[in-house]
Amino acid sequence: MCMGGPARASAADRLGAFLRDARLMPIRGTTRLAGVIGWPVKHSRSPLLHNHWCAHYAIDGAYVPLAVRPDDLGTALKGLCAAGFAGVNLTIPHKEAALSLMDRMDRSAERAGAVNTVVFAADGETVGLCSDGTGFVANLDAHGVSPKGRVLVLGAGGAARAVVAALLDRGCEVTITNRTAARAIELREALDAHDTLPWDAWPEALGDFDLLVNTTSLGMDGHGNAVFDLGQASSGLSVADIVYVPRQTPLLAAAEARGLRGVNGLGMLAHQAVIGFEAWFGVRPDVDAATMALLDADL
Ligand SMILES: NC(=O)c1ccc[n+]([C@@H]2O[C@H](COP(=O)([O-])OP(=O)(O)OC[C@H]3O[C@@H](n4cnc5c(N)ncnc54)[C@H](OP(=O)(O)O)[C@@H]3O)[C@@H](O)[C@H]2O)c1
Repeated sequence: MCMGGPARASAADRLGAFLRDARLMPIRGTTRLAGVIGWPVKHSRSPLLHNHWCAHYAIDGAYVPLAVRPDDLGTALKGLCAAGFAGVNLTIPHKEAALSLMDRMDRSAERAGAVNTVVFAADGETVGLCSDGTGFVANLDAHGVSPKGRVLVLGAGGAARAVVAALLDRGCEVTITNRTAARAIELREALDAHDTLPWDAWPEALGDFDLLVNTTSLGMDGHGNAVFDLGQASSGLSVADIVYVPRQTPLLAAAEARGLRGVNGLGMLAHQAVIGFEAWFGVRPDVDAATMALLDADL
């Protein structure tokens, strides 16, 4: 007997229905193409998401996974552009390397120091964007957690930079703490954030903040045990984790145990995809319940 219960069964049903529909969509000579470049790429949920939106909005489009070695990124981008692709997403390990390969970049990519969305413009130029930060704040907004006030960001890696930039753009006062202190200081200076804290000092300082954001890989499945001490949090603290596997991360479990509002990272994944989809396929997709159920069913 399935132990998942009715909710899991219906999510699986929705995934099955989507896959049946997707098989009916023909790829023709007119089909507009986009994809995701990664190494490896097989873990990416972007093909599921974008092809769902193509089917949902009856768009003559398709989105494919593209496994490209780090040394071959420049060749792959040129080739895809020449082959008529509308654009691509970039995932690990290509986001930072792509910076030097773009003809043009928008402010989001410059601020994030990374490119996760490439648009092949009509003039043949490659345009780099980074939608991770806007995806993060859009997910908070969707959960009714308006990013404002004093924010403590755990981590200073690639995702942290996009998140910190987006929070600063929303007028937040951002403090950064990271296991490797030098990276926190570097990030504060690069983006003119408010302050840094030593890694072992943040639990004690938590009472000073309105929002806590985990951008580290702590709590991600396969990355060992993670323990978060939220004992000093005020009752109004909101907690966001950009990790989304597992659904309820150790940080979100700790927040729930304290009665704090928590937001997981799956919505960020969906919201960051909106910008690329609109640029390539001409429709701004809605991150609705069906979109989230599809991603959730695939976890
Ligand atoms: N929801 C989404 O759409 C989305 C988007 C992007 C990323 N993510 C998730 O965000 C996480 C970080 O991704 P990233 O690309 O920023 O990775 P990254 O560049 O490798 O950065 C990893 C960060 O985690 C910290 N860290 C790793 N292990 C730690 C430990 N044991 N104790 C304390 N800190 C530790 C690192 O600290 P040091 O500097 O000290 O090494 C660094 O700040 C991943 O889980 C990724 O899946 C989610």
